[in-house]
Amino acid sequence: MKNLLFIGPGAIGSVLCWHWQPHVKPWVFPHRPDMHLATALLDADQSQPLHWQRWPDDRPWQDIDLVVVTTKAHQVMAAVTPLLDHLPQASWLLCCNGLGAQQWLAQQAPNRVLWASTTEGVRPMGDGRMQRSGSGLTLLGPASGSALNAATQQRAQLLLEPKSPLTLEWRDDLLPTLWLKLAVNAVINPLTAWHGLRNGELLDAQWRTEIETLCAEIQTVARACQQILPNDLVERVLAVATATAHNHSSMRLDVEAGRHNEIDFINGYLVRQGYEAGVKTPRLALWQQRLSSRQPPS
Ligand code: PAF
Repeated sequence: MKNLLFIGPGAIGSVLCWHWQPHVKPWVFPHRPDMHLATALLDADQSQPLHWQRWPDDRPWQDIDLVVVTTKAHQVMAAVTPLLDHLPQASWLLCCNGLGAQQWLAQQAPNRVLWASTTEGVRPMGDGRMQRSGSGLTLLGPASGSALNAATQQRAQLLLEPKSPLTLEWRDDLLPTLWLKLAVNAVINPLTAWHGLRNGELLDAQWRTEIETLCAEIQTVARACQQILPNDLVERVLAVATATAHNHSSMRLDVEAGRHNEIDFINGYLVRQGYEAGVKTPRLALWQQRLSSRQPPS
């Protein structure tokens, strides 16, 4: 494998580029006219240059072996669609919040899609660099229910080979991980975004009933979708709020910056799954409506 093409070169894209750049050439597809490429990643006070470059118009598309998509969930379809016809042989790796975009991509490129989930902490420093704020675990696996073709299996092996700087592991089924992350985000993100809270402020007793109500609805939807979430979901949510106590959630950052937020792929996904299964989700729907009202006009 020689060439990786990133779409969405933000915080998570930067950390993945840093991990793989000694082994493959990282390119970036300019999916937005105002796209900026981070120049370096600061890890434990060491500035690590990022070597990615814009994909030139005159290079043949067949040089691309694998596309790494790290856009926001609501940008996946618009960013990926123009490339699908150019890349009939390439493999895809999608790492984004929520659910819905993952299944969509798996349908577009059958047997060629990997899903990923990461707990790496990375944030923009505002000067063109990214700061790695916490090391985490990055999981890769095949799109659920899909067999990978031989080329994609081989590329997945190569992605897993470097043992540092990130920790990567393979999962045969990533869907339970994505569901748990979805469940945690469906509670923390809208509450912190709507009320302007740091994640840790959700530990205050005044939010307990809301958190319990949301977790109970999420459990019902998960069961209807044959997904098993931990019984102690409330405690899991509070554990993430504790571990990220000083952070502003991604949804709060989006709302406060006047950007589009990911509510349709988080609470919205759960509401749609609930509707299809005949499960009522009034509280999840209320938060979807509230955060939808904070979307900027498109
Ligand atoms: O979306 C986010 O911000 C994060 O997934 C989480 C876990 C809520 C922490 O800030």
